[in-house]
Amino acid sequence: MAFTRRQILAGLGALGIAGLGAGGVRYWLGRPENAASHDYELIAAPLDLELVPGHKTPAWGYGGQAPGLELRCRQGERLRVRFINKLDEPTTIHWHGIRLPLEMDGVPYVSQLPVLPGEYFDYDFITPDAGSYWYHPHTASSEQLGRGLVGPLIVEEREPSGFAHERTLCLKSWHVDEQGAFTDFSVPREAAREGTRGRLSSINGVALPTLELPAGQVVRLRLINVDSTITYRLNLPGAEARIYALDGNPVAPRPLGKDYWLGPGMRLDLALRVPAAGTELSLRNGPLRLATLKSVASAQAAGDWPPALPANPVAEPDLAQAETLRFNFEWAAMLASSNQTGPARYWQINGQAWDINDKACADRPIATLKKDGHYIFVLRNMAQYQHPIHLHGMSFKVLDSDRREIVPYFTDTYLLGKNETARIAFVADNPGVWMFHCHVIDHMETGLMAAIAVV
Ligand code: C2O
Ligand code: CU
Ligand code: CU
Repeated sequence: MAFTRRQILAGLGALGIAGLGAGGVRYWLGRPENAASHDYELIAAPLDLELVPGHKTPAWGYGGQAPGLELRCRQGERLRVRFINKLDEPTTIHWHGIRLPLEMDGVPYVSQLPVLPGEYFDYDFITPDAGSYWYHPHTASSEQLGRGLVGPLIVEEREPSGFAHERTLCLKSWHVDEQGAFTDFSVPREAAREGTRGRLSSINGVALPTLELPAGQVVRLRLINVDSTITYRLNLPGAEARIYALDGNPVAPRPLGKDYWLGPGMRLDLALRVPAAGTELSLRNGPLRLATLKSVASAQAAGDWPPALPANPVAEPDLAQAETLRFNFEWAAMLASSNQTGPARYWQINGQAWDINDKACADRPIATLKKDGHYIFVLRNMAQYQHPIHLHGMSFKVLDSDRREIVPYFTDTYLLGKNETARIAFVADNPGVWMFHCHVIDHMETGLMAAIAVV
């Protein structure tokens, strides 16, 4: 395809960029000089973080923070972001979960050319679905996401949702040592297993934060797993919490239950009824505390549970006419031990491993779907490690699984458990070449990715 031209940055003066500050934050989100062409100027740049007290971590951030600045827009409206690359290497932005035209999908050599240092690219698309989404690069992903290039994108409902309060919580663990220095983002031994985990967990870039919430109110917590590896087993002991949306898509509200497994790339919208002032709740990953939720006095009258969120306009697949395709996700032991050149390949889909250095991989899609055709994908995990399987460009409906009870729901990422077989279905209504991959970043980079063409 022909790519939209990248633009060379004319000069920083015109862009409203903050000067080099001593405090670590070197750039922030600029005010657009020309509001006719874009609503946000989002800059990716180096940023020193103090993740470990008394130590500096040389992170990379969007809009002067890591995780990046929260972008917001309304369902059905246009989001226009001038993305400016102030890093020393090429990058892109991919808008995870947004159903948009291929030219805006941010995959280098598939949807656009990489944005080189000093260049900018105007992203401009309509956000058809309300919910909690996020953005990240699709280049050198283990390092770029690992250093902090991840950020939330919130698409508000067309009409007020009934939640008077909300908080966005980006969950990320950092690959840093006790002095705050980065450790390897991807270690071969781990990439061939569950993925390389960071040591220091954080919410919105802070380890073990205390979040204050208004007593008696119902607060929408938008939990976004922006981590490269970890599946969080989320629980809130003693809390009155209900699930309102999964991965951006509304579900009939139901209690949180014991543990919700939130894989990399996935989102969970919870409603929490905040207990009496002075109470502390613990948001946990399994038995480990991630944050303290502290209830503080509120002058407002007590809130009630809002109604279910309105469904997103995702096409309903017709199972009776759908064509079934099978995808096996395998561990490639032989590939892993052979004396190959190029990047390691530990994983494969239907016997094929994606090579992140081969720009032509997308020319060999693993499946070609007919535009507006109905499809069932049978996803089979042949390994003992779980894979959050993600599709770009379209949302799919999870139908069933041989391992767990599924209430069918729409999503863009399904956490395929060890040795699990699950079925998903969707209408192939978005033409293009779409990435289909595991969101454990070092699985993706060592083979677990493919392209799906819709023509
Ligand atoms: Cu979060 Cu290929 O995407
Ligand atoms: Cu995506
Ligand atoms: Cu995986």
